[in-house]
Amino acid sequence: MLSKFDLVVLNGVVVTASDTSSFDIGIKDGKIHTLAPSFTPEDIGDAQVVDAEGGMVMPGGVDAHVHLCQDQKTGPLGLGGQCADDFETGSRSAVCGGTTTIIAFAKQSRDEEDRSLLKVVEAYSARAEETGSYIDYAFHIIIVRDDKDVLQTELPVLVKKWGITSCKLFMTYKTMQLQDYQLLDVMLAALDNSITTMIHAENGDMITWLAEKLESKGMLAPYYHALSRPPSVEGEAANRAIVLAELIESPILFVHVGSSASANIIRAAQTRGLPVFAETCPQYLNLTWEDLKRFHSPDCFENSKMICSPPPGPDSSDQDALYLGLHNGTFTVFSSDHCPYKYNDPHGKMAGMLEHGPSMHRASCEGISLPELAKSKTGSFKLVPNGIPGVETRLPLLFTRGVTAGRITPQKFVELTSTNPAKLYGLYPQKGALLPGSDADIVIWYPEGGLTPFKLTNEHLHHNVDYTPYEGMEFANWPRYTLSRGQVVWANGKLLGTPRDGRYLKRGPNQLGKGVAHFKKDPRTVATWVRE
Ligand SMILES: *[C@@H]1O[C@H](CO)[C@@H](O)[C@H](O)[C@H]1NC(C)=O
Ligand SMILES: *[C@@H]1O[C@H](CO)[C@@H](O)[C@H](O)[C@H]1NC(C)=O
Repeated sequence: MLSKFDLVVLNGVVVTASDTSSFDIGIKDGKIHTLAPSFTPEDIGDAQVVDAEGGMVMPGGVDAHVHLCQDQKTGPLGLGGQCADDFETGSRSAVCGGTTTIIAFAKQSRDEEDRSLLKVVEAYSARAEETGSYIDYAFHIIIVRDDKDVLQTELPVLVKKWGITSCKLFMTYKTMQLQDYQLLDVMLAALDNSITTMIHAENGDMITWLAEKLESKGMLAPYYHALSRPPSVEGEAANRAIVLAELIESPILFVHVGSSASANIIRAAQTRGLPVFAETCPQYLNLTWEDLKRFHSPDCFENSKMICSPPPGPDSSDQDALYLGLHNGTFTVFSSDHCPYKYNDPHGKMAGMLEHGPSMHRASCEGISLPELAKSKTGSFKLVPNGIPGVETRLPLLFTRGVTAGRITPQKFVELTSTNPAKLYGLYPQKGALLPGSDADIVIWYPEGGLTPFKLTNEHLHHNVDYTPYEGMEFANWPRYTLSRGQVVWANGKLLGTPRDGRYLKRGPNQLGKGVAHFKKDPRTVATWVRE
């Protein structure tokens, strides 16, 4: 019997950002068509059936912070920082963990040929098309210079032609850090084009000073990375960025907030009605300094596997505050900050040691395996590419530690991992929703007791990285099915999609609003005269 649907999802508990209820879902032409308490055999007809067996059915994950094809030189020899995942392997890993949309970063550099943001985006787009993507993808733009002519002529084209409506700015890293006056320039230009400004908030000068002090004391091992970035480094920068944004009445979003100190500063700004948004990531809820010391001895280079910025807190005390922030709305989105470098690779984490010439006995490491070398050499944390992989583990970690453990509701989970990122980055309700007309991007979890809790190993994962920071951790659930635009692309541990499935997404502006315009036009604020 012909069905009006191509595929039906039956017997699921449908969870959205607002509701939980038992519904069957009918999908037609890659879109959600009908939700009904239960379909009749006539409704189902010859449609493909996915039986959720009482498991939770949610909009597919939207991961708004993913680094792919983004190399980063970290040392004098130019070895470091080859991004381990391209669009094919990164999106493959994402879909196997229940994520159906990723937003990656097209990155400007200070090379003259990178002056044009449009050229940067074209080149990045070509890299995505080269391999294809398993799931739909979009781009943010990283801006590292304030060329006024470029901002003026190119930002409108980025929005119109490419649908790029968010930019990321850095307050640290020598080759990317913008000074305050430059931050203001770019933020104002972004605001005038309805582009959302994302901020990496760390005080670059404090980090340089602290790293020099550590270095002068011979404290070079990977673990000392954490000491080079105490919470005040993040807190100071967050506070400064808020003041700058308030000056020009610009909304901002803080990426990867890692400490309660920073969360409290952000919360205070939100309480004043400012349009300040924040993101946190699995590493801040699941790793501590203990993990930075986890492999072998505290001075072993293998701990470089855990280096990311900002670093996770010393112990789990900050995690309670971060969970509270997830629960109470301080955090708008929960993203992975997937920033993959291999460990056993001269262009990965090992670069932190190979770049560190003086600690080497030999000029070349031919004939010695890198891990062997790493046991006798400490290298320097300063030269280690920053970042850890996590696009596949993002949803299962928060599901286990947040939903199963009862810290957040299933609806909050959907809001943070799918609906809010879709709204914040202008993709809603095509993404992040299960409304009639939305793309049929769906993640279905195992029903309670349907999956025996298991310990994760890197072999379970589908990225192109040779380790996971979550090795050995126990997971209570995992996506059982992932559907991307109505197609089953992951089922019971098997990948069924292809890298030709994903399409580029043009995005609209931030849909989460501009906060309370509580300041009457005050003659002292710049916003009253700067555009006159
Ligand atoms: C991180 O999550 C895992 C898996 O749920 C859990 O077992 C572990 O205790 C967590 N670690 C920390 C430091 O919170
Ligand atoms: C919400 O959480 C933040 C921490 O992220 C905290 O600073 C704030 O006090 C909390 N607010 C309420 C009303 O619970």
